[in-house]
Amino acid sequence: MAILVLSRPLPAQPFVEALRAIAGDTPVWTEGDDFDPRRVEALLAWRLKPGILPRYPGLRVLCSTGAGVDKLMVGDLPAATPVTRVVDPLQAVQIAQYVVACTLRFTRELPRYEAQQASAQWLRHPVRSPEACRIGVLGLGAVGQAIARAFAPLGFEVAGWARRPRELPGVQVFAGREQLGALLSRSDILVNALPLTPDTRALLGRHTLGALPRGAFVVNVGRGEHVVEPDLRTLLDDGHLAGAALDVFEREPPAPDNWVWTHPKVLATPHIAAQAAFQTVAEQCLDALRRARAGLPQPHAVDRQAGY
Ligand code: GLV
Repeated sequence: MAILVLSRPLPAQPFVEALRAIAGDTPVWTEGDDFDPRRVEALLAWRLKPGILPRYPGLRVLCSTGAGVDKLMVGDLPAATPVTRVVDPLQAVQIAQYVVACTLRFTRELPRYEAQQASAQWLRHPVRSPEACRIGVLGLGAVGQAIARAFAPLGFEVAGWARRPRELPGVQVFAGREQLGALLSRSDILVNALPLTPDTRALLGRHTLGALPRGAFVVNVGRGEHVVEPDLRTLLDDGHLAGAALDVFEREPPAPDNWVWTHPKVLATPHIAAQAAFQTVAEQCLDALRRARAGLPQPHAVDRQAGY
Protein backbone atom coordinates (compact mmCIF):
# COMPACT_ATOMS: atom_id res chain seq x y z
CA MET A 1 0.00 0.00 0.00
CA ALA A 2 1.28 3.46 -0.88
CA ILE A 3 1.15 7.25 -0.81
CA LEU A 4 0.48 9.14 -4.05
CA VAL A 5 1.62 12.77 -4.41
CA LEU A 6 -0.42 14.99 -6.76
CA SER A 7 0.92 18.42 -5.87
CA ARG A 8 0.44 20.29 -9.15
CA PRO A 9 1.05 23.14 -9.83
CA LEU A 10 3.83 22.74 -7.23
CA PRO A 11 6.60 20.32 -8.23
CA ALA A 12 6.07 16.91 -6.65
CA GLN A 13 9.74 16.07 -6.08
CA PRO A 14 10.31 17.91 -2.76
CA PHE A 15 7.18 16.30 -1.26
CA VAL A 16 8.16 12.87 -2.61
CA GLU A 17 11.69 13.17 -1.24
CA ALA A 18 10.50 14.35 2.18
CA LEU A 19 8.02 11.46 2.36
CA ARG A 20 10.47 8.83 1.15
CA ALA A 21 12.92 9.90 3.85
CA ILE A 22 10.45 8.92 6.59
CA ALA A 23 7.95 6.48 5.04
CA GLY A 24 9.95 3.26 5.57
CA ASP A 25 8.41 0.43 3.55
CA THR A 26 5.46 2.47 2.28
CA PRO A 27 6.09 3.34 -1.38
CA VAL A 28 5.70 6.98 -2.40
CA TRP A 29 4.61 7.63 -5.98
CA THR A 30 3.77 10.56 -8.14
CA GLU A 31 2.35 11.19 -11.61
CA GLY A 32 4.47 9.57 -14.28
CA ASP A 33 5.46 6.64 -12.01
CA ASP A 34 4.29 3.20 -13.03
CA PHE A 35 1.96 2.23 -10.17
CA ASP A 36 -1.20 0.33 -9.37
CA PRO A 37 -3.87 2.88 -8.34
CA ARG A 38 -5.67 0.22 -6.28
CA ARG A 39 -2.69 0.28 -3.88
CA VAL A 40 -2.98 4.01 -3.08
CA GLU A 41 -3.92 4.47 0.57
CA ALA A 42 -3.11 8.17 1.02
CA LEU A 43 -3.27 11.00 -1.47
CA LEU A 44 -1.22 14.12 -0.83
CA ALA A 45 -2.65 16.77 -3.12
CA TRP A 46 -3.20 20.47 -3.66
CA ARG A 47 -6.19 20.15 -5.95
CA LEU A 48 -8.28 17.33 -7.34
CA LYS A 49 -10.16 17.06 -10.57
CA PRO A 50 -13.69 15.76 -10.06
CA GLY A 51 -13.96 12.17 -11.20
CA ILE A 52 -10.46 10.95 -10.31
CA LEU A 53 -11.14 9.59 -6.81
CA PRO A 54 -12.85 6.36 -7.96
CA ARG A 55 -9.45 5.39 -9.42
CA TYR A 56 -8.24 4.88 -5.85
CA PRO A 57 -10.70 2.46 -4.23
CA GLY A 58 -8.29 1.74 -1.31
CA LEU A 59 -7.98 5.41 -0.31
CA ARG A 60 -7.97 5.86 3.48
CA VAL A 61 -7.08 9.53 3.78
CA LEU A 62 -6.78 12.65 1.62
CA CYS A 63 -4.08 15.09 2.79
CA SER A 64 -3.65 18.67 1.61
CA THR A 65 -0.19 19.98 0.71
CA GLY A 66 -1.24 23.29 2.27
CA ALA A 67 -3.29 24.96 4.95
CA GLY A 68 -6.22 25.52 2.58
CA VAL A 69 -8.25 22.57 1.31
CA ASP A 70 -10.74 24.36 -0.95
CA LYS A 71 -9.42 22.73 -4.14
CA LEU A 72 -9.79 19.24 -2.66
CA MET A 73 -13.45 19.47 -1.75
CA VAL A 74 -14.75 17.79 -4.90
CA GLY A 75 -18.30 16.55 -5.04
CA ASP A 76 -17.41 12.86 -5.28
CA LEU A 77 -15.28 12.82 -2.12
CA PRO A 78 -16.55 9.80 -0.13
CA ALA A 79 -18.15 10.99 3.13
CA ALA A 80 -16.12 8.51 5.18
CA THR A 81 -12.70 9.54 3.82
CA PRO A 82 -11.00 11.96 6.23
CA VAL A 83 -9.45 15.09 4.72
CA THR A 84 -6.55 16.67 6.56
CA ARG A 85 -4.86 20.05 6.25
CA VAL A 86 -1.36 21.13 7.16
CA VAL A 87 -0.93 23.09 10.34
CA ASP A 88 2.56 24.58 10.22
CA PRO A 89 3.29 27.29 12.82
CA LEU A 90 6.24 28.51 10.73
CA GLN A 91 3.96 28.98 7.73
CA ALA A 92 1.56 31.05 9.83
CA VAL A 93 4.45 33.23 11.04
CA GLN A 94 5.75 33.70 7.49
CA ILE A 95 2.32 34.75 6.27
CA ALA A 96 2.19 37.23 9.16
CA GLN A 97 5.60 38.58 8.07
CA TYR A 98 4.29 39.07 4.54
CA VAL A 99 1.20 40.90 5.79
CA VAL A 100 3.23 43.14 8.10
CA ALA A 101 5.70 43.90 5.28
CA CYS A 102 2.93 44.89 2.84
CA THR A 103 1.12 46.92 5.49
CA LEU A 104 4.20 48.87 6.60
CA ARG A 105 5.17 49.44 2.97
CA PHE A 106 1.79 51.13 2.62
CA THR A 107 1.50 52.96 5.95
CA ARG A 108 5.15 54.19 5.84
CA GLU A 109 4.71 55.15 2.15
CA LEU A 110 7.79 53.33 0.89
CA PRO A 111 6.75 53.43 -2.81
CA ARG A 112 6.45 57.22 -2.51
CA TYR A 113 9.94 57.51 -1.02
CA GLU A 114 11.35 55.14 -3.65
CA ALA A 115 9.88 57.39 -6.35
CA GLN A 116 11.38 60.44 -4.63
CA GLN A 117 14.77 58.75 -4.40
CA ALA A 118 14.70 58.13 -8.14
CA SER A 119 14.66 61.89 -8.68
CA ALA A 120 16.97 62.74 -5.74
CA GLN A 121 14.17 64.48 -3.83
CA TRP A 122 14.60 65.11 -0.08
CA LEU A 123 10.98 65.55 0.97
CA ARG A 124 9.62 64.50 4.35
CA HIS A 125 5.94 63.68 4.86
CA PRO A 126 4.08 63.25 8.14
CA VAL A 127 3.80 59.66 9.36
CA ARG A 128 0.28 58.26 9.31
CA SER A 129 -1.17 58.34 12.80
CA PRO A 130 -1.89 55.03 14.58
CA GLU A 131 -5.61 55.93 14.64
CA ALA A 132 -5.57 55.78 10.84
CA CYS A 133 -3.95 52.33 10.80
CA ARG A 134 -6.54 50.17 12.51
CA ILE A 135 -6.06 46.55 11.45
CA GLY A 136 -8.97 44.21 10.78
CA VAL A 137 -8.20 40.53 10.23
CA LEU A 138 -10.84 38.37 8.57
CA GLY A 139 -10.44 34.82 9.83
CA LEU A 140 -8.98 34.01 13.22
CA GLY A 141 -7.65 30.50 12.64
CA ALA A 142 -3.95 29.69 13.11
CA VAL A 143 -2.94 32.11 10.33
CA GLY A 144 -5.28 34.96 11.29
CA GLN A 145 -4.16 34.73 14.92
CA ALA A 146 -0.47 34.84 13.92
CA ILE A 147 -1.23 37.96 11.86
CA ALA A 148 -3.11 39.62 14.73
CA ARG A 149 -0.28 38.81 17.16
CA ALA A 150 2.36 40.22 14.82
CA PHE A 151 0.71 43.65 14.67
CA ALA A 152 0.14 44.19 18.39
CA PRO A 153 3.76 45.11 19.38
CA LEU A 154 3.97 47.57 16.47
CA GLY A 155 1.43 49.86 18.08
CA PHE A 156 -1.51 49.01 15.84
CA GLU A 157 -5.02 48.57 17.13
CA VAL A 158 -6.09 45.09 16.04
CA ALA A 159 -9.54 43.58 15.58
CA GLY A 160 -10.58 40.34 13.98
CA TRP A 161 -13.63 38.63 12.61
CA ALA A 162 -14.53 34.98 13.12
CA ARG A 163 -17.57 32.80 12.61
CA ARG A 164 -18.05 32.41 16.35
CA PRO A 165 -17.19 34.66 19.31
CA ARG A 166 -13.85 33.95 20.96
CA GLU A 167 -11.38 35.54 23.35
CA LEU A 168 -8.02 36.63 21.98
CA PRO A 169 -5.71 38.72 24.14
CA GLY A 170 -5.29 42.22 22.70
CA VAL A 171 -7.69 41.63 19.81
CA GLN A 172 -11.23 42.96 19.63
CA VAL A 173 -13.21 40.07 18.18
CA PHE A 174 -16.29 40.55 16.00
CA ALA A 175 -18.29 37.42 15.21
CA GLY A 176 -20.83 36.26 12.67
CA ARG A 177 -22.34 37.95 9.66
CA GLU A 178 -24.21 40.42 11.85
CA GLN A 179 -20.92 41.91 13.13
CA LEU A 180 -19.05 41.96 9.82
CA GLY A 181 -20.17 45.52 9.03
CA ALA A 182 -18.85 46.77 12.38
CA LEU A 183 -15.44 45.17 11.74
CA LEU A 184 -15.26 46.62 8.23
CA SER A 185 -16.24 50.15 9.18
CA ARG A 186 -13.31 50.39 11.66
CA SER A 187 -10.64 48.69 9.49
CA ASP A 188 -8.17 50.99 7.73
CA ILE A 189 -6.14 47.92 6.82
CA LEU A 190 -8.23 44.87 5.97
CA VAL A 191 -6.39 41.54 5.93
CA ASN A 192 -8.14 38.52 4.50
CA ALA A 193 -7.03 35.21 6.03
CA LEU A 194 -10.30 33.32 5.63
CA PRO A 195 -10.63 29.78 4.34
CA LEU A 196 -12.47 29.55 1.04
CA THR A 197 -15.89 27.95 1.51
CA PRO A 198 -19.28 28.45 -0.15
CA ASP A 199 -20.00 30.99 2.63
CA THR A 200 -16.87 33.09 2.06
CA ARG A 201 -16.58 32.92 -1.76
CA ALA A 202 -16.93 36.44 -3.22
CA LEU A 203 -17.35 37.88 0.28
CA LEU A 204 -15.17 40.86 -0.61
CA GLY A 205 -17.15 42.74 -3.22
CA ARG A 206 -18.63 46.17 -3.78
CA HIS A 207 -20.67 46.26 -0.56
CA THR A 208 -18.14 44.84 1.89
CA LEU A 209 -15.06 46.60 0.49
CA GLY A 210 -17.18 49.74 0.10
CA ALA A 211 -17.94 49.58 3.84
CA LEU A 212 -14.25 50.11 4.68
CA PRO A 213 -13.24 53.66 5.62
CA ARG A 214 -12.24 55.79 2.65
CA GLY A 215 -8.51 55.37 1.95
CA ALA A 216 -8.39 51.81 3.30
CA PHE A 217 -5.81 49.24 2.20
CA VAL A 218 -6.56 45.57 1.55
CA VAL A 219 -4.19 42.62 1.94
CA ASN A 220 -5.35 39.28 0.56
CA VAL A 221 -3.54 36.15 1.74
CA GLY A 222 -6.69 33.99 1.72
CA ARG A 223 -7.83 32.95 -1.74
CA GLY A 224 -8.40 34.93 -4.91
CA GLU A 225 -12.00 33.74 -5.03
CA HIS A 226 -12.80 35.69 -1.86
CA VAL A 227 -12.50 38.92 -3.82
CA VAL A 228 -14.72 40.13 -6.63
CA GLU A 229 -11.81 41.46 -8.68
CA PRO A 230 -13.80 43.91 -10.86
CA ASP A 231 -15.36 45.44 -7.72
CA LEU A 232 -11.94 45.81 -6.13
CA ARG A 233 -10.70 47.53 -9.25
CA THR A 234 -13.63 49.96 -9.29
CA LEU A 235 -13.05 50.90 -5.64
CA LEU A 236 -9.33 51.42 -6.26
CA ASP A 237 -10.04 53.52 -9.35
CA ASP A 238 -12.65 55.72 -7.71
CA GLY A 239 -10.31 56.40 -4.76
CA HIS A 240 -12.36 54.66 -2.09
CA LEU A 241 -9.47 52.23 -1.56
CA ALA A 242 -5.91 53.53 -1.39
CA GLY A 243 -4.28 50.25 -2.39
CA ALA A 244 -4.15 46.49 -2.23
CA ALA A 245 -1.51 43.82 -1.74
CA LEU A 246 -2.66 40.63 -3.44
CA ASP A 247 -0.84 37.33 -3.04
CA VAL A 248 -3.69 35.16 -4.32
CA PHE A 249 -5.88 35.45 -7.41
CA GLU A 250 -8.95 33.87 -8.86
CA ARG A 251 -6.78 32.53 -11.66
CA GLU A 252 -3.14 31.78 -10.81
CA PRO A 253 -1.16 33.09 -12.49
CA PRO A 254 -3.43 35.92 -13.62
CA ALA A 255 -3.58 36.28 -17.42
CA PRO A 256 -0.79 38.51 -18.81
CA ASP A 257 -3.31 41.22 -19.65
CA ASN A 258 -5.02 41.12 -16.24
CA TRP A 259 -5.24 44.61 -14.72
CA VAL A 260 -3.64 43.49 -11.46
CA TRP A 261 -0.18 43.33 -13.06
CA THR A 262 -0.10 47.01 -13.92
CA HIS A 263 -2.49 48.81 -11.59
CA PRO A 264 -0.51 51.55 -9.82
CA LYS A 265 -2.23 50.87 -6.49
CA VAL A 266 -1.69 47.11 -6.50
CA LEU A 267 1.22 45.07 -5.23
CA ALA A 268 0.79 41.63 -6.85
CA THR A 269 2.92 38.68 -5.68
CA PRO A 270 2.82 35.06 -6.93
CA HIS A 271 1.24 33.22 -3.95
CA ILE A 272 4.47 33.39 -1.96
CA ALA A 273 3.25 34.60 1.44
CA ALA A 274 4.26 31.16 2.68
CA GLN A 275 4.39 27.53 1.69
CA ALA A 276 4.18 24.91 4.44
CA ALA A 277 7.58 23.25 4.97
CA PHE A 278 7.91 20.07 2.90
CA GLN A 279 9.11 18.12 5.91
CA THR A 280 6.10 19.20 8.00
CA VAL A 281 3.74 18.32 5.15
CA ALA A 282 5.36 14.89 4.84
CA GLU A 283 5.32 14.21 8.59
CA GLN A 284 1.67 15.20 8.94
CA CYS A 285 0.67 13.15 5.87
CA LEU A 286 2.41 10.04 7.17
CA ASP A 287 0.91 10.55 10.62
CA ALA A 288 -2.54 10.91 9.03
CA LEU A 289 -2.04 7.65 7.13
CA ARG A 290 -0.93 5.79 10.26
CA ARG A 291 -3.93 7.13 12.14
CA ALA A 292 -6.28 6.20 9.30
CA ARG A 293 -4.86 2.67 9.26
CA ALA A 294 -5.37 2.40 13.05
CA GLY A 295 -8.82 4.03 12.98
CA LEU A 296 -7.59 6.89 15.21
CA PRO A 297 -8.92 10.48 15.12
CA GLN A 298 -7.10 12.99 12.90
CA PRO A 299 -5.79 16.08 14.74
CA HIS A 300 -5.84 18.17 11.57
CA ALA A 301 -9.09 16.86 10.14
CA VAL A 302 -11.14 19.22 8.01
CA ASP A 303 -14.71 19.77 9.16
CA ARG A 304 -16.46 18.68 5.96
CA GLN A 305 -19.58 20.60 6.86
CA ALA A 306 -17.71 23.89 7.45
CA GLY A 307 -15.31 23.27 4.52
CA TYR A 308 -12.05 23.96 6.39
C1 GLV B 1 -1.39 28.18 0.81
O1 GLV B 1 -2.10 28.89 0.19
C2 GLV B 1 -1.86 27.11 1.64
O2 GLV B 1 -3.08 26.86 1.67
O3 GLV B 1 -1.04 26.48 2.31
